[in-house]
Amino acid sequence: MPDLRFLPDQRLWLLDTPSTSYAVRLDEDDTVRHLHWGARLTPDQARELAGRIPASGSSFDTAGGPEELGAEGGARFGPAGLQVRFADGSRGVEWRYAGHDIDEGHLAVHLDDRHYPLRLTLHYRVHDDSDVIERWTTVTNTGDPVTVTRCDSAAWTLPHRADYRMSHLVGAWNSEFRLRRAEVPVAETVFTSRTGLTSHQANPWLAVDDGTAAEEYGEVWSTALAWSGSWRITLHRTPAGRTTWTGGHGHEGLTWTLRQGETLETPLYAGLYTADGFGAASRGWHAYVSRHVVEHPAEVRPVLYNSWEATGFDVDEPGQTALAARAARLGVELFVVDDGWFGERVSDHAGLGDWTPNPDRFPDGLRPLAAEVHRLGMLFGLWVEPEMVNPDSDLYRAHPDWVLHTAHRGRTEMRNQLVLNLARPDTAAWAYEWLDRLVTENDIDFLKWDANRAFTEAGWPGNADPDRLWLDHTRAVYQIMDRLRAAHPRLRIEACSGGGGRADLGILTRTDQIWTSDNTDPVDRIGIQHGFSQLFPARVMGAWVTDSPNVATARATPLRFRFHVAMAGALGIGGDLTTWPEEELKEAAELVATYKRIRPAVQHGTAYRLGGDGTLSAVAFAHEDEVVVLAWCPSRPFGHDPAPLPLTLLDPSASYRDTGTGAVHSGAVLADAGMPLDLPPGDHASVLVHLVRVAQEG
Ligand code: GLA
Repeated sequence: MPDLRFLPDQRLWLLDTPSTSYAVRLDEDDTVRHLHWGARLTPDQARELAGRIPASGSSFDTAGGPEELGAEGGARFGPAGLQVRFADGSRGVEWRYAGHDIDEGHLAVHLDDRHYPLRLTLHYRVHDDSDVIERWTTVTNTGDPVTVTRCDSAAWTLPHRADYRMSHLVGAWNSEFRLRRAEVPVAETVFTSRTGLTSHQANPWLAVDDGTAAEEYGEVWSTALAWSGSWRITLHRTPAGRTTWTGGHGHEGLTWTLRQGETLETPLYAGLYTADGFGAASRGWHAYVSRHVVEHPAEVRPVLYNSWEATGFDVDEPGQTALAARAARLGVELFVVDDGWFGERVSDHAGLGDWTPNPDRFPDGLRPLAAEVHRLGMLFGLWVEPEMVNPDSDLYRAHPDWVLHTAHRGRTEMRNQLVLNLARPDTAAWAYEWLDRLVTENDIDFLKWDANRAFTEAGWPGNADPDRLWLDHTRAVYQIMDRLRAAHPRLRIEACSGGGGRADLGILTRTDQIWTSDNTDPVDRIGIQHGFSQLFPARVMGAWVTDSPNVATARATPLRFRFHVAMAGALGIGGDLTTWPEEELKEAAELVATYKRIRPAVQHGTAYRLGGDGTLSAVAFAHEDEVVVLAWCPSRPFGHDPAPLPLTLLDPSASYRDTGTGAVHSGAVLADAGMPLDLPPGDHASVLVHLVRVAQEG
């Protein structure tokens, strides 16, 4: 069971999760040092560890062992997790221990500066159903203004190992979440976003192992930052062999003034240790997200239709009504009208910011379409981009000051748009007001909340502390979403930023799913989904079936393959259904019905990534007595069939019935010799296997 204890004899805190321990020690000089993050420790074992005094380094090295948040000050030469400058110009901190609080699963360790009235509190929280440890920091100033140039949420430290390897996610628009593994260099390696968004280029998830871990074995330490604006994580491997990382919101070069009486609270930075490989790490994160991050864990995500790839900006009531009729026939449960329904938004050149239905396209507003969608038995969803404005809009003409801008500098347009400064109370109030009205007046069940460009010239002329907007903009987005959800309990939100540019635990705390990528090519998606699944569960992974050839890659693939790839997430359809031949509509309806049957397993089950033999990749979902396997073979070199797929997740003592063929298989045989897959010939072959456990073997 989880437990938080203070062992006063060693000035030691011991945090237990169901299968891991985390230990921290207070040094003689009141520095909070890291002791242990890994397998369970008894209090006596933790005491033994605490008794070890780290060898003192040379006069050129950081003194002492790794800290829980290494601040600038004293003999510290690594990346600082806290950097402040006091009003008198003095820098650096010296701590005096000021007590701790333990309250249920929450530990708060307080440190006061020895001279200045500045308090740092290190927070830890553990849960009884997860090995994830949540950490964050608060800094309170009760004196003259303090300039903060860095305030991280946490630093994480690994035990000594022979080697260290990092796993991280990289990408770009249309190619998010690509998993990379590389040896940790003996250097400071920075992972960061300076875009004001979580970013496509790097995701604030990082895993480190000793280079020997694999999908189903090996120790893995992984962390995820719950923040949707700019961020920075610095991984530091020293020549002496220590590996630590420190991370938090904001990128380098920003400063925030902490005025008298103010507290800066960082976002959560969560960490997970597992002894059983990358697969177990992902399953640990998935369970944590389901239990402690998303707000409606018991729900299933509805099968969605989205108009974007079908109609682009050519959105009008007759066209959307025709698509809705076809979508309903396929079994779609949520119909989402994408960009192009408002203002002068007939292309990406105008209209962003003018959030009233375009009268030429929707002469009677959106209500008739919403009513028709509801009459067809579907929920009604709408695309919005509340943080952005086209200069060619009534909003911008009325409020040119509302955008991020800097005196004597241009206003760089990207996708013909500028970023609204939601750190401004008037701009944030405006955004909440129209969103609330829109949802209320049109009976909207679902919003796709997009953010289609990075921040530039992120200033606020006349504001004494302009860099604060890098934090306050993101906080305002959170507040608006939180208020909307409180005011409209049925409302569900999809997070989107040009696809997967805003995917993190912070946005997921107030949204229900993530639009994974604008790239809907199923071959590319296999890799994107593989990376996404390192941290996020299938239930939040928006995945659409779109037209063939694919609009982004021109690759042609069969409908069944497109479905089988998208069925590994929250299934959606995004093709132009008015052009799909009758037999494809029929096949699609059958596949949607199949998805609904396997959906409890996909969305509420436990996911196992199955490697296959190189030509094939697969994922299996286990839920109660069911196991669903989706296997994909994008190409067949030399025409060879893939080897049978070992289903190592199965109970070897059980038997399983294949609901497709009726055949009964032994779990032991399927786990060891593998499941022969009935793949159609050629490239872009896929199969769905649905197994139900039948009986215990004698
Ligand atoms: C972004 C989204 C797309 C679509 C367009 C609309 O690119 O990721 O899905 O909504 O904006 O402009």
